[in-house]
Amino acid sequence: MIKKDKNKNSQKRQLLELLFACVPIILAILLLWRSIPDGIYHLEAEEGAVGEKAIALTFDDGPSGHTERLLDGLAQYGAKATFFVIGKQAEKRPDVVKRAHDEGHLIGSHTYDHPNFYLTPDSTAIESIEKGEAVIEGIIGEKPLFLRAPYGNVWPHQFKSFDRIFIHWSFHTFDWNKDDSQEIYEDIMKKASDGSIILLHDTRPATVDAVLKAIPELQAEGYELVRVDELLTRNGDALRVGVPYRACEYDKGALIF
Ligand code: NI
Repeated sequence: MIKKDKNKNSQKRQLLELLFACVPIILAILLLWRSIPDGIYHLEAEEGAVGEKAIALTFDDGPSGHTERLLDGLAQYGAKATFFVIGKQAEKRPDVVKRAHDEGHLIGSHTYDHPNFYLTPDSTAIESIEKGEAVIEGIIGEKPLFLRAPYGNVWPHQFKSFDRIFIHWSFHTFDWNKDDSQEIYEDIMKKASDGSIILLHDTRPATVDAVLKAIPELQAEGYELVRVDELLTRNGDALRVGVPYRACEYDKGALIF
């Protein structure tokens, strides 16, 4: 009789222990559930709008005193681009951001003041993201859909919790550190291929020179210069929040890291 009660007690204890062991697992599942973004964006690409050879030029850190010269060149060649603007810079040159938008280029966000997400608390990073988006919305009347993280630095958990569509890149040319436009130009021509998203900076005069030299050459090779949203949706893909995109080749899906 006594033995039987003992057994009952140990069964009860085991059950309680099991329940306690489950608590952190349940909490982890709930936390994870909360952090999964619920949105996917269906960006309708115009059928056949982007052909078999296309490239997205993307410009970070502007607008600057060199952006208008770039816009003039893009207009001259009928090329489209994407500008990941810094909110603080956009406040200084709202007319340039408005012009880029009005001329059919895509305005994305590069935060308000370019924090390094690896080194700042998440709350500070989010504040900078939201403030940057608010500045852009104030200028062009719509919230930007795409975010480029400063330096491309994003912790894995931030992709989910920041709840944005991140745009990374296929390649860059170290243009932020170069004054030789010929070198940047040659690097673009060597590395460019269908589906590339190229990281550049419209804050650098050598970059603007290099790009304006490369555009007609790329066009002569049959490339279209398109916005990053046009490139990524060329196959009818619905873009997802919480992932970083880096390329989109013809007849292949949008590529993430
Ligand atoms: Ni930057």
